[in-house]
This record gives sequence, structure tokens and C-alpha cells, in this order.
Amino acid sequence: MLRTPIFAANWKLNHGPTDAKAFMQRFLHQTPRLDDRSMLFFPPALSMAAVMDALHERPDVLVGVQHVHSEASGAFTGENSASIARDAGARAVLIGHSERRHVFGESDEATGRKVRLALDTRLIPMLCVGETLSEREAGITESVVERQLTAGLALLTDAEVGQVVLAYEPVWAIGTGRTATPADASAIHGVLRAALRARGGVRAGQVPICYGGSVNRGNAAELLAAPDVDGLLVGGASLDADGWSAIVRTEVRR
Ligand code: PGA
Repeated sequence: MLRTPIFAANWKLNHGPTDAKAFMQRFLHQTPRLDDRSMLFFPPALSMAAVMDALHERPDVLVGVQHVHSEASGAFTGENSASIARDAGARAVLIGHSERRHVFGESDEATGRKVRLALDTRLIPMLCVGETLSEREAGITESVVERQLTAGLALLTDAEVGQVVLAYEPVWAIGTGRTATPADASAIHGVLRAALRARGGVRAGQVPICYGGSVNRGNAAELLAAPDVDGLLVGGASLDADGWSAIVRTEVRR
């Protein structure tokens, strides 16, 4: 279980091992242990070792991979494996990030298999859902995120749902500078919470729901203060060590 609020950095395809090492030195220098929150880094897989090296005295900060294949092993040249990631020290994995869905064609069904595999491998799955701009304009945001949620959790028992972390990331807000308002984020987080409740078995309040999409230093506090927003998944604004340190140290008003 992660402590909320969660601050997750998704570096995407940025920061090789040399940059990652320099980043972590600078970041850790400014960022004490913070027992009231969880910090997670999703570096590129090839930089994971550099990040973990830097964290050897900071077990409070977790590292994950941005992607795994839906099969644990086999003839899948170029893929990341959940079990190899776990062996290498990863504790979490992003699943269904919008770039995986929309750039690489990851299906809803594949996200379900990956969430299953993550739990079998003792990785915390961070399942991302979110609507595109055209889906939002068509007024189908709620049905899109509910469909993605249902598919992502399809192969779990009710109790296992409590081991998942969700991230709501509207596709139109990712990397665009357009952020959902705290009220908009809260509304969709409420939809996800209600869908979890309807599924039964799990205490819906126990599943953290992070928001992602153009989060920055200026909007982090108000997003975190919004009802049902249990953390942040941050791309661009997590690439600068000073800026990311400031965000993870955001004072959280609840
Ligand atoms: P962004 O990316 O913060 O750059 O919008 C978020 C994400 O893709 O997880």
C-alpha cells in the first residue's frame, strides 16, 4: 500500500543514466524523507539502475517501469518484462498510459492482462485512464473512463482491486499545458470511485486515484486539495530536479 498523497514522476523517454544520476543527487539533496506521502519515479528502463543506485539510502522513494509486455517472458525482442523489472528492483509499473494506448495501440484488453501480471509479479500497477479531446467533446468522458477501468481490472478478484493505483489523465491535458480544473478532475475521480464501489468487494476509498496532465508547481496544491484527488502523475514538470522537489514538497491541504 502506498501512502497518499502519491507523487509520481513519469520521465517518459528522457534522462539517460548520466542525467538521471545528476538529477537524483540534486533532487535528494533538497528532498528529505516525507513520511506523509509516497514518492515514485518512472525513469526509462535503461536509467533505472542509475536511479536505484542513487536511492540506496532512501528506501522511502520507489522506482517503477513505464511499460511491460503482457507476457512475462519469451520471444518478444525489445520488450520489458514484469518479472525482470521486479528482479531489477522495480516496485511499480505504469499500465495503459495514454501514449501506450494512442501511440502504440495498446488495447483495453491488454491493460487487463498487464494489471494481472503486475500483481502476480508483486509490482504495484498504476492503471491510467483518460478520454481524448474528441471523446470529451462528444460528452462520453464518463463512459470511456468506466470502460477503461472495467477492462483494466477485469482479471482481478474484488479484493485484489485494493492493490491497484489509478491515474486519471485526460489525453487533451497531457503535455499540452491545458490542465483539467480541480473541479473537473474531482468529478471524474468521483466517477471512478463510484465505479469501484459498484464493483463491490473492495473499499473504494482504499484505491488511490492520481491526477495527471500538465501538472506543475503552480497548480499542484489546488489539484491535491480537490476531493478524491489522492496524488499526481507528472511528466514534463518532473524532469527538472529543483521543480520536482518543490512539487513533492507541496503542502497538502485536505
Ligand atoms: P505531463 O505528462 O505532466 O507532461 O502532461 C503527464 C503524463 O503523461 O503522465
